[in-house]
Amino acid sequence: MTKIQIFPKSKEFLFDKPLVLATAPKGESVELLPSQVKIDAKLKKEIQAQLVLCQAKGKAGEVIYLSMAKGVVCVGLGKKEKNEVKNLEQLRRSAASASRALAGNAEAVFSIAIDSPEEIEAIAVGIGLGSYKFTKYKTDKAGVKAALKTALIQAPDTAEYKKALQKAVILVENVNRARDLVNTPPLDLVPNDFALLAKKQFAKGVIKVEVLDEKALKAKGFGGIYAVGKGSIHPPRLVRAVYRPTKAKTHLALVGKGITFDTGGISLKPPGSMITMKADMAGAAAVMQAISAIAELKLNIQVTAYAALAENMPSHTAQRPSDVIRIYGGKTVEVLNTDAEGRLVLADALVRAQEDKPDYLVNVATLTGAASIALGKRTAGVMGNNDDFISKIIKASQVAGESMWHMPIPEEIRAGLDSEIADIANIPPSLSPAGGMLRGAAFLKEFVNETTPWAHLDIAPNAFNDNSAYGYVVAGGTGVSVRTLVELASQLAK
Ligand code: BES
Ligand code: MN
Ligand code: ZN
Repeated sequence: MTKIQIFPKSKEFLFDKPLVLATAPKGESVELLPSQVKIDAKLKKEIQAQLVLCQAKGKAGEVIYLSMAKGVVCVGLGKKEKNEVKNLEQLRRSAASASRALAGNAEAVFSIAIDSPEEIEAIAVGIGLGSYKFTKYKTDKAGVKAALKTALIQAPDTAEYKKALQKAVILVENVNRARDLVNTPPLDLVPNDFALLAKKQFAKGVIKVEVLDEKALKAKGFGGIYAVGKGSIHPPRLVRAVYRPTKAKTHLALVGKGITFDTGGISLKPPGSMITMKADMAGAAAVMQAISAIAELKLNIQVTAYAALAENMPSHTAQRPSDVIRIYGGKTVEVLNTDAEGRLVLADALVRAQEDKPDYLVNVATLTGAASIALGKRTAGVMGNNDDFISKIIKASQVAGESMWHMPIPEEIRAGLDSEIADIANIPPSLSPAGGMLRGAAFLKEFVNETTPWAHLDIAPNAFNDNSAYGYVVAGGTGVSVRTLVELASQLAK
């Protein structure tokens, strides 16, 4: 990972490494924005002339190298907005583009005039997330251009700014860990691997971890996780992680869908739909890394995070369409489609999570393909039982720069899940694609107490980027919702 440090304002820059400067649109042309590096009038003129020659426009994310002007990289910040949240997001995205353009370098100085600790945080988050690469499985390391090794951000060298940078590094490390988990091939990340990694990650810190194995799951009545996992030779797990600062007044419970690979089970997926299904544990990865960041940031809020882990495989031991299973707490579900497995493992974990009596409950899941039919590939859906809580989540997502949109759970949708022989079916008997995302939410809602503010994040659209990088979202696992959950926790802790 790119190391990120402060380059003290007082220190002289000697033009011995690449320098990142910021630009912005000015009329039809471009202007070089002020920087804290001393750039003499002659060089400044030279850079400005070169920018015009290159037809730079200072547009958001535009990257221009000016090798003639001593290794200067100019990155566009776009037009300044009145909305500070948008400006910070633009800083993240532009810093990410610049950091990727600097791949292969040992060091670079980012000299973008910084007016607040929030700005150094944004630049550092952009650099750290934007330069991420998953190279574990490349044997020809020389053939892979390494990420920028060290980014030096020019800023005041004060406690306030150091703290903001430290926060950014914690966010980056945890989002990138979630990405690593998502990107790891399902051969090397079966439910027990995930559980062991969680134990190892939290072994030294304040977070306590408990793991239920398949025997315990069966004995205690976790019929959803057990049924989904029983087709695989790699048995299911339920991980519970607890962060409990002594003075906390609020308790937030997080539940993540952790299907380490989703073949669809007996209701097998077509090959094309299966390729990205190693990412079907992205919700579980997100909640585990969110609790990790929340603890590292020492936020004053109690958090309990659950990862509901199973591998959804077809085999002679797999559950069949039309089986009736019993969710933790007793409700019965007729499983009409084994590919609608996420809601089964989540139902168990949601019921279990409510035994802890949380004040707020959030689940994160790559639940439905229908979510991206509705929202595209960059926006997650948010549904729940409490509009005030949902608006808190939407606000947190905006601060984080993670696009999320409030969707309804219309009443009539639930009736479609009526079962002839069980309490509820996991899909309507004749499956229509209409409102698939909302139906997933309607199913989960059945397992949540009305009085607990609850939200369901359907991150199926943007947990995995199967295109090229944009802004600080790289190809592959995105780590989406980690930063939204951390922001939410920090708001609830106030
Ligand atoms: N994991 C999938 C949802 C998914 C699809 C996530 C595409 C990411 C990208 C989920 O388990 C699933 O298979 N859902 C079905 C539900 C249907 C059977 C009601 C779907 O979306 O087709
Ligand atoms: Mn599925
Ligand atoms: Zn799934």
